[in-house]
Amino acid sequence: MANTVIVGAQWGDEGKGKITDWMARSADVIVRYAGGNNAGHTVVVEDEKYELHLIPSGILHEEKECIIGSGVVVNPGVLVEELEKLRERGVSTDNLHISSRAHVVLPSHQKLDNIEEKRKGEEKIGTTGRGIGPAYADKAARRGLRMMDITDDRRLEKRLKPLVDYHNKLLEEIYGVEGFSRRKLKEELLQLGDELGPMIGETSVLLEKRRRQGRDILFEGAQGTLLDIDFGTYPYVTSSHPGSGGVCSGAGFGPTHLDEIMGVSKAYITRVGEGPMPTELRGDTGERLREKGQEFGVTTGRPRRCGWLDLPALRHAVTVNGLTALTISKIDVLSGFEEIMICREYSRQGRSYEYLPADLGLEADYSPQYITLSGWERDITGCQDFAELPPSARELIEIVEEETGVPVKLVSTGPDREDIIDRRS
Ligand code: IMP
Repeated sequence: MANTVIVGAQWGDEGKGKITDWMARSADVIVRYAGGNNAGHTVVVEDEKYELHLIPSGILHEEKECIIGSGVVVNPGVLVEELEKLRERGVSTDNLHISSRAHVVLPSHQKLDNIEEKRKGEEKIGTTGRGIGPAYADKAARRGLRMMDITDDRRLEKRLKPLVDYHNKLLEEIYGVEGFSRRKLKEELLQLGDELGPMIGETSVLLEKRRRQGRDILFEGAQGTLLDIDFGTYPYVTSSHPGSGGVCSGAGFGPTHLDEIMGVSKAYITRVGEGPMPTELRGDTGERLREKGQEFGVTTGRPRRCGWLDLPALRHAVTVNGLTALTISKIDVLSGFEEIMICREYSRQGRSYEYLPADLGLEADYSPQYITLSGWERDITGCQDFAELPPSARELIEIVEEETGVPVKLVSTGPDREDIIDRRS
């Protein structure tokens, strides 16, 4: 399998967790490289549903090593809880490693995230409210706290004081709300540091060692390309690099060692939070997609906005990630629709656009131009053979391949681990 990246080709929630879990079978090491507990990955194993936010989906395979890389922002309290929940269900967490360089999300980040969203009013981003943006902002401003800091009393004291003082100044003097006790925060962090300490280390060195040993490494993306801070629908984005470029900086792994970049896209599209979405369906069809696809956020429970597959957005994802393969997920959800539409391009003021324009976050008047396919009635959940798909479902896959120039190597046909069509050979 070599070294593979799994990246979201849309606005997140493409079903990466399931694909990671499936591909993890032939990997030795699974790595998260960006985002934090804003992510939510659902994996179903033998009717048991696991919801993961920070820990790589590979954890469900006992013998695999899992890494949380330096590009991830870690809320240590959430991580300890997630570990405990897995252990309670008999999942071993012994093989988890956390980068000493990963930044810490504090309760004050979360409070700031929510206050700043409220202040924006109509202009809000619709964040998950988990403190992710403020934590990355502190990282970039060079006042952040790293996971290595919570394992050392003296270092924590030195790093925590200016950060909490800064947060308290914002909270108390600008926003007029209560700040945080540094002493209490420090105590809590040291306790979490005690629990997590044995897992914290130089994960890029470990990765390089495994690479030299010839082990197969799988990089598990969170969020999606259209939420990337550089290549997403700015400003309606997250604060990290969910795309394949994020692997190098977020895991400390060189681009020359990557073999396959697999983009995951639904057969339609969804988005949570605010921001532009040209193919959004606001009426009954959107509601039907939401119900059939169970499109509700794993992290916040918010209903996801649903729309038709958007090829300009997908071509953009192919380009900025250098995708070498695609997975089309949740094609089974489209069964029962009379017509299925695919947006081939946008048009605006007499011009057509085959790629996602940079001002999409600011201009609302790009109108999608559609290809229409006739629908199919038959339930295709669990189908494992491409030839057995209804003609329109096959056509959808072929259109994606033709329009993006990238082979669709996997088609996911249901939530279960085995509901998949493997076209890799
Ligand atoms: P934040 O990452 O919490 O700052 O949220 C910024 C934007 O990214 C919001 O629109 C969120 O809804 C979206 N977002 C963040 N994480 C995910 C995810 O895992 N799936 C889908 N959308 C996400």
